[in-house]
Amino acid sequence: MLPGQKGIKEVAVWLASACSSRGIAVLTGAGVSSESGIPTFRDKLTGLWEGYDPAKLASPQGFVANPNLVWQWYDWRRGIVEAASPNPGHLALARLEQLSQHFTLITQNVDRLHHRAGSKNIIELHGNILNYSCFSKRHPANFVAPGLTEPPLCHCGSPLRPDVVWFGESLPASAMPLATDAVLSSSVLMVVGTSGLVQPAASLPYIALESGIKVVEINPVRTPISDQVDVFIEGPSGGVLPYVVSLVEEL
Ligand code: OAD
Repeated sequence: MLPGQKGIKEVAVWLASACSSRGIAVLTGAGVSSESGIPTFRDKLTGLWEGYDPAKLASPQGFVANPNLVWQWYDWRRGIVEAASPNPGHLALARLEQLSQHFTLITQNVDRLHHRAGSKNIIELHGNILNYSCFSKRHPANFVAPGLTEPPLCHCGSPLRPDVVWFGESLPASAMPLATDAVLSSSVLMVVGTSGLVQPAASLPYIALESGIKVVEINPVRTPISDQVDVFIEGPSGGVLPYVVSLVEEL
């Protein structure tokens, strides 16, 4: 089904041309890591965490209400992330970067799998789950052992938390300006594995569309931007991205 999917050859031509000209920007979300076994934020939690709502756990209010619970949830996610490996979708994006003169990978993921796949020019909009800082002052913390059932304390006395952006929190000051510049200086934006529901990352495809930049979306299901993008490729990124990059290499 994939080779014949509408628009896919055209996308490869745009990407090949962008590799040697203005460049490529890619926005990724949790779906890219789904084939590495990391649950997305829309997957229903099962097992130990069945019935919990990630949106409530991943919030300052959730942490204040029950720091041990939020700590344990992140410790569980960190375990999954550390045991996971990059999948063919991550690897294909790293390969596309090697083929491009200007390439920026903007990710909402906190799992570092793009780094481990070999991508270099990465903007992490939501931080990363392997770093910690304290809740009150955001003092950075050194190594934190896995398996603790409650947050250790910072030298200032405040409990540690994962150094990620939670619901209702602002992004690191430079993240969105850098991401916006990267999008506006590219000729193609690929939007991969994101539900497009969480701002401000969700605004990037609209910024590209308004500026006449080609927008290509890859997702097994349609999202709020699917009707507006130039090409929507329906499918899992671990299958679609290697195929698209192989077409680029043939051109
Ligand atoms: P979501 O969990 O909201 O959405 C995941 C998207 O991935 C959905 O659109 C799925 O259809 C798609 N998907 C699932 N499997 C896929 C696959 N194999 N290949 C490609 N796509 C697939 O994740 P995000 O959009 O990243 O923020 O969510 C954005 C932010 O919301 C996250 O960074 C996180 C979350 O709350 C914070 O923690 C602040």
